[in-house]
Amino acid sequence: MKESEKKRMGQYAVHVFVCTYGPWCSQDGDTDAIVNRLKQGISEAGLRGRVRINRSGCLNQCGHGPMVVIYPEGRWYAGVQADDVPELLTEEIVNGRPVTRLLYEAPPGDNKDLSRYPPDLVAATRAKSRDG
Ligand code: FES
Repeated sequence: MKESEKKRMGQYAVHVFVCTYGPWCSQDGDTDAIVNRLKQGISEAGLRGRVRINRSGCLNQCGHGPMVVIYPEGRWYAGVQADDVPELLTEEIVNGRPVTRLLYEAPPGDNKDLSRYPPDLVAATRAKSRDG
């Protein structure tokens, strides 16, 4: 947290966004559980008011999820699962250190790749989602 607080951004020392409203990240993991475990961990650590957890819409990195973005460092994490939350809390959120095994590496901009999903799922999801 100390390093993060030095680079304080906006209203919170650390601001976490979890893609829950996009149509694909929830195919890759339990995004609600990620949010809930983050919120529980923040509360237990006495960090409410200093760390904010928000759900987000699609981040246009579909197919690499669940995606999590954490500011002020602006680190993007891919393939995050609920069991990864304790490490994200301890390393990134409290100590400001990256969890390297989860860091997302991709070219800047949109990197949506739906090739890992069955074609019928892609068609059905696209039919009912603006972000599909
Ligand atoms: S659905 Fe999460 S990045 Fe698109």
